[in-house]
Amino acid sequence: MKQNILVLVGSPRKEGNTMRLVKAFAKGASDNANVEIVNVSDYNVAPCKACEYCHQGERPVCCQKDDMQLLYDKMNRADVLVLASPIYFFGMSAQLKTVVDRLHNPIRKEFPIKKLGMIAVAGSSKPFMFDTVKRQFEIACSYLGFESIGMVTAGGMRELGDVDGSEFMQQAEAMGKEI
Ligand SMILES: Cc1cc2nc3c(=O)[nH]c(=O)nc-3n(C[C@H](O)[C@H](O)[C@H](O)COP(=O)(O)O)c2cc1C
Repeated sequence: MKQNILVLVGSPRKEGNTMRLVKAFAKGASDNANVEIVNVSDYNVAPCKACEYCHQGERPVCCQKDDMQLLYDKMNRADVLVLASPIYFFGMSAQLKTVVDRLHNPIRKEFPIKKLGMIAVAGSSKPFMFDTVKRQFEIACSYLGFESIGMVTAGGMRELGDVDGSEFMQQAEAMGKEI
């Protein structure tokens, strides 16, 4: 049976470098998997309030009634989760981090997600620009028990479309093919 891959894209630039890499990844994965691409900017998701309401009731319900429920529903159908983000201030974008923080809700333990991947894009070509997201990704895999499907880090991508024709497009497609 085909795996279901959910890609959460954290760039507000709909045709940006992150989305271009995500499309290359989806092209590679399309033979063996169903890929759903979600731009989190299209969803109204508020930051976690740290009220711990989700940990108190019988069911892990968030007190905030916003679009996060739609994203929980999508995660509840996913076998593989891919986080795709531009580097903003040396880390993942606030748009994506806001969604990821809402996985503080123990509802995440009900999701069938077994594998995690990451795609990250930076304007700078300094390799250390990805240190934070690389470490976050490694810790998420080991602490939460996800199998890694790999990570693509594309540095030196400042302007819209800089990533086109680069080696990173091939890397993203190859990561998709290996699913
Ligand atoms: C708010 C903001 C913060 C950024 N911070 C960084 C940074 O810390 N390091 C870096 O290398 N590039 C930084 N950039 C550049 C983006 O990572 C780069 O332009 C990337 O290609 C954007 O991806 P996108 O085309 O998918 O939006 C920043 C851009 C913005 C808008």
